[in-house]
Amino acid sequence: MTKSHVPLIERYRDHLPFAPEDQIVSLQEGSTPLLLAPVLSGMVGATVRLKLEGANPTGSFKDRGMTCAVSAAVREGAKAVICASTGNTAASAAAYAARAGITCAVIVPEGKIAQGKMAQTLMHGARVISLAGNFDQALTLVRELTDTHPIVLVNSVNEFRIEGQKTAAFELHEDLHGELEALYIPVGNAGNITAYWRGFREMGASPRMLGFQAEGAAPLVLGHPVEHPETVASAIRIGNPVRWEDAMAATTESRGAIRAVSDAEILAAYRLLASKEGIFCEPASTASVAGLLKYGTDGASQVVCVLTGRGLKDPETAIANNDGKVIQCVAERGPIEEAVLGDP
Ligand code: F0G
Repeated sequence: MTKSHVPLIERYRDHLPFAPEDQIVSLQEGSTPLLLAPVLSGMVGATVRLKLEGANPTGSFKDRGMTCAVSAAVREGAKAVICASTGNTAASAAAYAARAGITCAVIVPEGKIAQGKMAQTLMHGARVISLAGNFDQALTLVRELTDTHPIVLVNSVNEFRIEGQKTAAFELHEDLHGELEALYIPVGNAGNITAYWRGFREMGASPRMLGFQAEGAAPLVLGHPVEHPETVASAIRIGNPVRWEDAMAATTESRGAIRAVSDAEILAAYRLLASKEGIFCEPASTASVAGLLKYGTDGASQVVCVLTGRGLKDPETAIANNDGKVIQCVAERGPIEEAVLGDP
């Protein structure tokens, strides 16, 4: 098998809390591409690479943590998992639960999750509860629920999630032979930045961890929770991250920072990546690139932007935010010629 066909837990078993005899639940996640970004490299004067986490089976980085969280739940004999989610955790939990033959419930903020994620979650057969409230309220409620019911919580408060997600740092360390200087990463609930830092430390590496939140949902930048978070990047519309302390430790220890980018900057990076680099990822993912373009590399010559989820997750935002026009045309030669070759 090539490494891309090896389940993540098998590839990194030495670094993960699973024994060879443990049954694992896998969709062959991980081993995602690391792609050179020539246009971005030219713009910032450094070698910029993109870690394409949207290449995971359900289209986001969540699968790395979910293979571990669901495998551990099954090992403990669990029959059900639950999460609060802005969409990607829900889609991933639903897929891995389906694969494991256990049930899954997700609580999502009403009207605030992208259509692609909702489609996935429903197709995998999860019970979807649409909460008249935001992500932070949903997470508080599922934590209360799992305190009193035998349902495993698979949000990133679950340590197995962090364990699985740290493998992305292993891959970067291997692919770049330890030469990575700075990592640009979107931050919502702050599990992923926590996981990368753990992974780098286990490899003896310490690139600067540069996290980016949307301006309207930037509690870690402001230093206090945001009661009504708002951003076009629905995946990171979070006002009180559960991994707050860990994220601050990661940035302090690595001499990094958590900074804010505006929705306009997120959308500009979203269009640039798709139209100039050929990479379509969801808006939250492009917070990393928006951060790179806004704040620069501060002298680092080898940098990576993590693109956390793929563009098809959120078709509504794509359709609403680009200049591309669809030209209506009758089925005749002359009008077609004009439509294809005429002035735009
Ligand atoms: N990018 C995407 C596409 C996400 O879905 C998320 C989080 C993040 C970035 C931020 O990662 O929370 O570890 O700091 N999505 C969660 C969810 C909250 O429910 O799918 P984080």
